Amino acid sequence: MSNTGSANPHDDIAEILIDEAAIKTRVEELGAEIGAAYTGSDSIVLISVLKGALVFVADLMRAIPRNVSIDVMEVSSYGGGNTESSGTVRILKDLSGTIEGRDVLIVEDIIDTGLTLNYLTGYLGGKSPRSIRIVTLLNKPARRLVDLKVDWTGFEIPDKFVVGYGLDFGEKYRNLRYVGVLKRELYASAIGEA
Ligand code: IMP
Ligand code: MG
Repeated sequence: MSNTGSANPHDDIAEILIDEAAIKTRVEELGAEIGAAYTGSDSIVLISVLKGALVFVADLMRAIPRNVSIDVMEVSSYGGGNTESSGTVRILKDLSGTIEGRDVLIVEDIIDTGLTLNYLTGYLGGKSPRSIRIVTLLNKPARRLVDLKVDWTGFEIPDKFVVGYGLDFGEKYRNLRYVGVLKRELYASAIGEA
């Protein structure tokens, strides 16, 4: 039997992992830390990785007390509705501006295996930026397959599949205000449990 979920996304959540207030507080802290780390730079570009980091970058950019510009890339490492990274990264949308000589801050929603960001830092590094740093809202260190230097992490989370605040399952749940764990029966078939 396939389970497609409820009309209200909130009804499909088993547990709220990080609530709206905790996210807001942490995003403010990250914005202040990032602003302080780039003293002397007037050429910061936030590169947001669509679609998951859309909500995070919208809040984070307003918390950084410096001039920043933004650009977006869209990459795909998962098949639709899947919960496992394939390791193959495809660029669905490339940068629209140049990053040569600029201070690049990659803004990610979550680092899981690290394969997506490992690919992206190599790709962006080839475009001669002055620096590349990484900020991620969520980090699942237990699942890392490649060694990555992450400059700022919002929250370290356990190895659970999470949705909300930009993160999806099958393109749903991005509009939840918090990060939550999906009810297991909703994604059991995607991970090979009957
Ligand atoms: P990685 O290449 O395995 O690090 O995967 C990174 C990407 O996988 C993220 O940008 C997300 O789009 C997706 N992802 C990884 N874990 C989760 C999760 O728990 N919920 C939703 N998306 C996830
Ligand atoms: Mg993503």
